[in-house]
Amino acid sequence: MRTASGTGVDPAALGFRPRDLVFIADPYPAYAELRAAGRIIHNPETEQWIIPHYEDVNGLLRDRRFGRTYLHLATHREMGRPEDPLFTAAFWHLIRNGILDMEPPDHTRVRRLVAKAFTPRRVQELRPTVQRLMDGLIEEVLGAGEVDLISTVAESLPVTVIAELLGIPEADRHHLRPWSAEICRMYELNPTEEDGRAASAAAVEFSDYLRELIRERRQHPTEDLIGGLVQVIDQGDRLTEDEMIGTCVLLLNAGHEATVNMTGNGWWALYRNPDQLERLRADHSLVPRAIEELMRYDTPLQMFERWVLEDVEIHGVPVTPGQELALLFGSANRDPAAFDRPDELDLGREPNPHMTFGAGIHFCLGAPLGRVELETSFGTLLRRAPHMELAAEPEWKPNYIIRGLRELRVRL
Ligand code: HEM
Repeated sequence: MRTASGTGVDPAALGFRPRDLVFIADPYPAYAELRAAGRIIHNPETEQWIIPHYEDVNGLLRDRRFGRTYLHLATHREMGRPEDPLFTAAFWHLIRNGILDMEPPDHTRVRRLVAKAFTPRRVQELRPTVQRLMDGLIEEVLGAGEVDLISTVAESLPVTVIAELLGIPEADRHHLRPWSAEICRMYELNPTEEDGRAASAAAVEFSDYLRELIRERRQHPTEDLIGGLVQVIDQGDRLTEDEMIGTCVLLLNAGHEATVNMTGNGWWALYRNPDQLERLRADHSLVPRAIEELMRYDTPLQMFERWVLEDVEIHGVPVTPGQELALLFGSANRDPAAFDRPDELDLGREPNPHMTFGAGIHFCLGAPLGRVELETSFGTLLRRAPHMELAAEPEWKPNYIIRGLRELRVRL
């Protein structure tokens, strides 16, 4: 029976099993069950409130009574939450110094300092550079026969773009993917002690590396983003060194994780919908709209969390400070109340107000850059490898929050 609150509903019984590979491969039937069951559903396994409807995800992201953190208002103890285990200290120190885990006024101050580098205009100016990098990558794979599209193209493009933008020397870039992968282990549901230790070890190495780079940039100033931020630190009290390191790590990680997975998820969605792939092959002017639709259809970021900061009722259910909401972006994007025929991939869909880049004050800072990268990569592959075909059915990584394929084998 449908109730507003979905009280008494067991999400696992409806198929919501984030550790199960069958669910990870296709979470959408379970999402439909959750949406039918109610607007806010308690998950006893994670002690979170699941929010599956578009209208609620969109509204709660903009509602300041919920936050990415509560530590700007109260301690863990005051919020009734456990202290962080000591072995996660380095991870949390790094993450809480990045803008994604800040709330105003710190969030406003630090986001403003980095936002200038990512405005739609600045990013449009990068388009020729992104195209040049993509042209180089495609030259390497054309004629190679069968390749893994993820390791050859999908990873290399966004890692190189964000590394160039920040000013990470070429010789050091091979560290970025492994550091990011270790840190991202903490974003999955119920991380283990091993995950915490691995993420903290990577956080220490990554921070030490950036601290050293900052020292170098002080002696030899550069025009890149890190060079610019070093001057801001040195000019006064607008940015601390720890905030700069936390935010640069965020930019470097967020600047490629989602784009890599989106490229794989997007091509896999096209291969499962051959009529739409043909439509795109016949009309490349569809690429920008197709990217938006692929992002809606199978977002690489399935869920984001928010802490309850004050007593509120959500559809009649009282939630209290220190409780946590699990906002299901993947479900919001398939909500029939927001999209006609939501389970159909329609590359011409317009309007397409998907939730994939979030909403509210934490709306993705890199959205314009992500779009340019995806448009360039899909557009170039369509032009230069017009018959690229699937060579093997891909497998999903066993991750739910940041969800993507292990590899995508194609023949060019
Ligand atoms: C397809 C690609 C991408 C997707 C789907 C994506 C998605 C998101 C989402 C959903 C959020 C908000 C999370 C929340 O509200 O809790 C976010 C935040 C963010 N993203 Fe992206 N992102 C992408 C690419 C990028 C790129 C290329 C960059 C590089 C600059 C980037 C940098 C950031 C930053 C810095 C934030 C934090 C913003 C803040 O807290 O104010 N993202 N992203």
